[in-house]
Amino acid sequence: MAKKATKARAGTPYRIAVIGGDGTGPEVVREGLKVLKAVAAVSRFEYETTEFACSGKRYLAEGGDPTEPSIPVITDEEVAALRTFDAIYLGAVGDPAVAPGILEKGLLLRLRFELDQYINLRPVRLYPNVPCPLAGKKPEDVDFVVVRENTEGLYTGMGGVQYQGTPQEVSTQINCTTRFGAERCIRYAFDLCRRRASPKKMLTLVHKTNVLTFAGGTWTRAFQEIGREYPDIKKDYNHVDACCMWFVKNPEYYDVIVTDNIFGDIITDLAAIIQGGLGVAAGGNINPRGVSMFEPMGGSAPKYTGKNVINPLAAIGAVGMLLKETGIHRDDARLIDAGRRVEKAIIATTPRMKSQAAGRMGFSTTEVGDMVAEAVAKG
Ligand code: IPM
Ligand code: MN
Repeated sequence: MAKKATKARAGTPYRIAVIGGDGTGPEVVREGLKVLKAVAAVSRFEYETTEFACSGKRYLAEGGDPTEPSIPVITDEEVAALRTFDAIYLGAVGDPAVAPGILEKGLLLRLRFELDQYINLRPVRLYPNVPCPLAGKKPEDVDFVVVRENTEGLYTGMGGVQYQGTPQEVSTQINCTTRFGAERCIRYAFDLCRRRASPKKMLTLVHKTNVLTFAGGTWTRAFQEIGREYPDIKKDYNHVDACCMWFVKNPEYYDVIVTDNIFGDIITDLAAIIQGGLGVAAGGNINPRGVSMFEPMGGSAPKYTGKNVINPLAAIGAVGMLLKETGIHRDDARLIDAGRRVEKAIIATTPRMKSQAAGRMGFSTTEVGDMVAEAVAKG
């Protein structure tokens, strides 16, 4: 854990844990931290960062088995240390040399679960001059938020496999849905819908209640009952398959969506592409009363690693979210203002870029970071 502090003057500096992780993670995080430094100067808050070296690379270097989990990807001590921070900033996890699931479960999912980050918040916003693959859609047409449940559903790891490798192989993967989990997620989504600036004031529950009648029933009952406490919010429901169709046909229909873990995972990749791709999509793993973790949605992009061509805007957007959400959590208007400034600086930068795709931006990773940092400084 290497500690770097900015000139701490009055007050207690915010403490941010940084996990660069794998592949292009450290490169994009570097640009995010550049913008953080610039905005801290303008919005006048103090912070310090502490780097955590957990990654697929470290797992392998320490003798971790690339085919099955053998040693911790992140240690108990590191998890305990992370609990003490104001926020966590994560680059990416994933190494092509490690079998799928080991790093994801060992680091990302472990942190989401153990830090009880039960909301995965994914704003979907098309920035100016970012090409949208949907014909005729403009920034005002693509502006909604997905609230994805982040600690239950198909992600709990319940289930198992029997007679593996034989023709009789049987596997189950249980969709663990609790009323408690659905309820706290739905309540968060209603509250968010209420404070969002959009005039639509509509919360759409997305599920598959026509087939998944048990889990869908729990979500629906919770949604209807909690919904009575929010008479000012319009209640709406879409089956997940239909929702995918509407994302492409009428994204302007949506305001806030609340959905379970796996559906949220899938629809937010579709949503990312209609906002211009994974180069710009950011998300937050939120524990509204604890430590939250912010990350660009794209993975470690091994083929672009070390080339200075990856788009850092998603990671910079994650810094904007980190500031805004930490500001809400700590009731600090300076941080909320800083988050808004970062977003504004991204909006000032996208029109200058040729594309949002890696290698085609017309600028390098570091140059895009510089442009956003300069835009922040100019206000
Ligand atoms: C995401 C990712 C993760 C998920 C993977 C890497 C485990 O796809 O954050 O959306 O499925 O949640
Ligand atoms: Mn995903």
